[in-house]
Amino acid sequence: MSIAIFASGSGSNFEVLADQSRRQWPKEVSLLICDRPGAGVLERAERLGIPTVTLVPKNYENKAKYEEAILSTLQEYGIEWILLAGYMRLIGPTLLQAYPWRILNIHPSLLPAFQGKDAIQKALEYGVRWTGVTVHWIDEGVDTGPIVDQKPVLVEPDDTLETLTKKVQFVEHNLYPNTVYKLLTGRIPDHPSVSRSSG
Ligand code: GAR
Repeated sequence: MSIAIFASGSGSNFEVLADQSRRQWPKEVSLLICDRPGAGVLERAERLGIPTVTLVPKNYENKAKYEEAILSTLQEYGIEWILLAGYMRLIGPTLLQAYPWRILNIHPSLLPAFQGKDAIQKALEYGVRWTGVTVHWIDEGVDTGPIVDQKPVLVEPDDTLETLTKKVQFVEHNLYPNTVYKLLTGRIPDHPSVSRSSG
């Protein structure tokens, strides 16, 4: 049993997660699901020798059919956990029901502030002094699931989108793999409904 990462973009989080899983975790990242042909993350996966499956939503009749195709791929690979890493789509009921409290996400703000897309830009525009990074469970909303861990990032007066993105991503690359490691090894508690059903 192992872990799949879902990603749409450049894949810097994918790479640190995959790398840490090999070094430290009791389960490895063994599959990349990508929804965007040509995304940078695909090259990273190839370099690391991790199998990739690219499934494009517009090739399916509806979201349920799209997620059924993902689900059968996940079952084929024996996937137990899903980590979203810059996967820019809402997870629907098909995957939520198949993986209850087994889907995590990284979001580039201190939730519940700045949910949705362009969170770093929104934080800059709002003029907050602190923003940060959140790892949370996925539920049916947009960045609304229970928070697992967070880390702050200071916004300095001369920060631009570029400099703040660098700082936020630096923190993401540390927080996300560490949080997953702690969850997988029981160093931080599992989601309460999973603990109850297994205990
Ligand atoms: C990351 O900063 C991640 O937090 C963000 O996309 C970026 C992906 O970068 N995700 C969201 O905004 C989700 N709402 P990466 O492809 O280099 O890992």
